Amino acid sequence: MARFDKDELVSACLTAVRSETDPRRAVKEIVERTVADPAAIDAAVRDRTESPMMTIWHRSEELTVLHIVWPPDVDLFAHDHNMWANIGIYGGREDNFFYRRLEDGRIEPNTEKTLLVRDTVSLGPDVVHSVANPTREWTAALHVYGGEFFTTPRTMWSKDTHEPMKLDVAFIRERLEAAASKARVADTPGEAP
Ligand SMILES: [Fe+2]
Repeated sequence: MARFDKDELVSACLTAVRSETDPRRAVKEIVERTVADPAAIDAAVRDRTESPMMTIWHRSEELTVLHIVWPPDVDLFAHDHNMWANIGIYGGREDNFFYRRLEDGRIEPNTEKTLLVRDTVSLGPDVVHSVANPTREWTAALHVYGGEFFTTPRTMWSKDTHEPMKLDVAFIRERLEAAASKARVADTPGEAP
């Protein structure tokens, strides 16, 4: 098992963004190499279910690196990022559903892809996806975005009507927190979910 160091990951991604002609591809290779050794990441971060659900490892105009651990039984709204993204899974499972943009601003379902441990997905800046964790396990992932993830204006789409709306981070966080509380109770011996 190799050693994992989050600062080295961030530094490698920053170098790629600053020097590569195709930074998205270069960062994809870095993420692939990193999640190829899930035990090393596990050893370097705290117990997944005790970690905050999102830890910001780097945030700047050119790059955002997030460590995200999200709870079982979650199905999030479709959204865009407006920047490229590379996601690598090192624990659990993440189902990705991709959508086609329609001329009236709505979306329609297109393809889907299930990511398991050691899998990665590379998303272009126009991609619209929703993510779900249908399992009873927490999903652990590294997310690297080619820009400032938190201040870039983004869109999410209603699950029922597929109508666009301004992305509301607080709303998404609330849904995640609710699922996390439920999962933590379910994880506690002697307590019912
Ligand atoms: Fe996303």
